[in-house]
Amino acid sequence: MGGAYDIEPVTPADYRRRAERRLPRFLFDYIDGGANDEITLAANVADFRRIVLRQRVMRDVSQIDTATTIAGEEIAMPLVLAPIGMGGMMAQRGERQAVRAANGANVPFTLSTVAICDLAEVRAAASKPFWFQLYMMRDRGVVKELLDRAAAAGCTTLAFTVDLAITGMRHRDLRNGALSQSVAAKAVRAWEIARHPAWTLDVALRGKPHGFGNLADRVPDPTRLEAFTAWVAKEFDASVTWKDIEWLRAQWKGKLFIKGVLEADDARAAASVGADGLIVSNHGGRQLDSVASTVSKLPDVAAAVGERLEVLVDGGVRSGVDVMKALALGARGVMIGRPWIWALAAGGEAGVARLLATMKQELRVAMALTGVTKIGEIDRGLIDRAPGA
Ligand code: GLV
Repeated sequence: MGGAYDIEPVTPADYRRRAERRLPRFLFDYIDGGANDEITLAANVADFRRIVLRQRVMRDVSQIDTATTIAGEEIAMPLVLAPIGMGGMMAQRGERQAVRAANGANVPFTLSTVAICDLAEVRAAASKPFWFQLYMMRDRGVVKELLDRAAAAGCTTLAFTVDLAITGMRHRDLRNGALSQSVAAKAVRAWEIARHPAWTLDVALRGKPHGFGNLADRVPDPTRLEAFTAWVAKEFDASVTWKDIEWLRAQWKGKLFIKGVLEADDARAAASVGADGLIVSNHGGRQLDSVASTVSKLPDVAAAVGERLEVLVDGGVRSGVDVMKALALGARGVMIGRPWIWALAAGGEAGVARLLATMKQELRVAMALTGVTKIGEIDRGLIDRAPGA
C-alpha cells in the first residue's frame, strides 16, 4: 500500500514499486519473479503475515539492544544480505553499493558467484569482511580457485547453495524471452532499454563492465540472462551429494553455511558433514514451486539441529517484525533477498541503507512491545499463534 503522497519509500513494497518503474521489464522480472505459478513465492510472504504475536507490557524496555552474533561476527541485528545474481545490472556497480550499505549498518553482505562485481572489487569497496556464495561446479578446479579467491578477499563465511541442481522454471523469464535470442526477443529487450533512460544512462552506460565478474574468463557472453542459464546447465554439477560437501569442508577453512535446506533430515545431514550453519530456504520460491514456505518449515529444522548449527531462514522476510517472528520460531537470524535488491534498484546504496535502518527500527519496536530487550530473550513465548508451525 502506498501513501497519498509517497514522498519516501518505507517498506520493501515501496522500493519494489520504484524498482519496477526504473528497470527494464526483463531485469525486474528476473529479481521479482519465482518459479512456475509462484505459489511458494506467495506462501513465503503470506505465512509470515499469518503469525500472530503477543503484546506484553510493563517490562522496562527503556534499553533495547538488537545486536547479536552470527558465524562468530558481532553484528547490529540478526540479518544478512542474501546472495543475488546480477546485482550490478540493477544499479551501477550494484554489489559495491550494497556492500557499503551493509557495512554501514553492520550486517553481513553475501556476494553471489554470479554477481557482476567480482570478489576483488567488492573487497576494495568493503570496510568489513563479507560472505561468499558458491554452487558446486563440475570442474572442482574452478571451485577450488573460487574458494582461494574468496579466502584471499577475506571472506569469512561461505554460503554453499544446494537447491539449484537445475534451474527452476521461471515463467516470467521465459515469457519475456529473456532466455532467447530470437529477433522478437531482441527487439523487446531493445525497447525495454530504450524506455528506461535513467537506468540506461546509470547502469547500461556508466555501470560497465557487465560480465559475471567472478567468472569473467569462463562465461562466454555474460551480459545476457540466457548466458547464465546456459552456463548453469553446462557447468553445474547436479550429481552433488553430502560426500562432496565433506570435500568442500576440507577445502574451506572459514565458516560453512549450507543454503537451501527445508527438511529436518537434510538439516541433520548438513550437521553431520561439519557445516557451521544452514539457511532454511526454497531459493525465494525460484526453484521447486509448491514446496512449503520457509517459515512453516523453520520450527522442525530448528528443533532438529538448532543446538548444533546456526539456523538462518530466508524467503518472505519483509520487515523487522518478520525478523522477530523468525527468531521466535527458532532462527538465529534471517537473510533478505528481494527487499535489498528492490531498494538497491530504486535508490542505490542510500536505498539499501535506509531499508536496513527501517527494518532495525521495526525490530526494536517489536521487541519493546513484546517486552524483550535483548535478541537472546526472543523465544517461542512471543508467539500467540503460528498457523501450521
Ligand atoms: C540464481 O541463483 C537465481 O535464483 O537466479
